[in-house]
Amino acid sequence: MGRHKIAWLPGDGIGTEVLEAARTVLDASGLEADYMPGDIGWNMWLKEGNTLPERTVELLKRSDCAFFGAVTSKPPADAMRELPARFRGKGIKYSSALIRIRQQFDLFTCLRPCKAYPGNPGNLKEGTDIVIFRENTEGIYCGAEWGRVPQEFFSVRGMERVSPNAAVSIRAITRRASQNIARAAFEHAEMHGRKKVTAVHKANVLRATDGLFLEAVRQIAQEHPKIKLEQMYIDNCCLQLVLDPLKFDIILTTNLFGDILSDLCAGLVGGLGFAPSANIGQKWALFEPAHGSAPDIAGKGIANPIAAILSAAMMADWLVEKTLALNIEAAVAAVIKEGKVRTPDMGGKSKTMDMGRAVAEKVHR
Ligand code: IPM
Ligand code: MG
Repeated sequence: MGRHKIAWLPGDGIGTEVLEAARTVLDASGLEADYMPGDIGWNMWLKEGNTLPERTVELLKRSDCAFFGAVTSKPPADAMRELPARFRGKGIKYSSALIRIRQQFDLFTCLRPCKAYPGNPGNLKEGTDIVIFRENTEGIYCGAEWGRVPQEFFSVRGMERVSPNAAVSIRAITRRASQNIARAAFEHAEMHGRKKVTAVHKANVLRATDGLFLEAVRQIAQEHPKIKLEQMYIDNCCLQLVLDPLKFDIILTTNLFGDILSDLCAGLVGGLGFAPSANIGQKWALFEPAHGSAPDIAGKGIANPIAAILSAAMMADWLVEKTLALNIEAAVAAVIKEGKVRTPDMGGKSKTMDMGRAVAEKVHR
């Protein structure tokens, strides 16, 4: 396959720390790759007034895929207050670098496995093994707010114009993106011997958008008769996940529901320290731990790097380095089972790099 070209985006906060640990594991695994560092996130906002500089976008275009740590994101009003004076009055708007990449590169699949590794003290229920497929480019994340809302919307509500006392976000759902994410979920089920896809929605209230989502999902399900399609309301799904996570196999859902469910599911298997993720498009992908930059513990070297290391395994898998991917995951499972190295979130005192080195030592080349 030759050497892989990986854009390396540590970001800020614990992003840089967990990526250092993941890199130790990747190097030990023998993956042949060139890592190309890129600037992204909060520091770039402060330095350049742009969380995702154009040179980073160019770097991503030259790469086979990207590996991302975490970036600090803030509500726009707070971010604007911290924007250095020299950038003011230039029409600069704050936006999340991660969401921009997902949308600009059409990374329609957000794949988030939630697995209870035996021996993990944070497991709520042994045997939990759920894979979430979250639509990653549209829904309530589509960025259509206020200004682009049609005037009729306000007049029927007795509002004459955009008012400071009302705000609107649009939830845009397309057949194309819904089919894309459904296809990814059903194909994953077939390839990995999974039996059931649960489509999670709120079509009793969000009739138009989730109605269309379900219609697209049913269409794709027909092409995969061996996989069972189940439908569940989002509220009931939260209840069922907490009561009996073993009932679930693959969860297929829209953007915001997937965001929320993936944190819920992470909580079932030890927390965000165990939640890896992949953002996958047609030809390019970005891998990242699902956690954020965790400013409260940043700089202490105590963040759990397992989510990042498992994301590295997912990257190896996507790069068709299947054996290597299995090796990394097996090494993580072995370290968790042994229980000698545990970061504070696992009730231990080990450091981020202790965990990185422990996994690296167990990776067979
Ligand atoms: C995630 C995060 C992001 C999201 C934030 C940081 C924009 O919560 O990847 O789950 O909402 O998608
Ligand atoms: Mg999230």
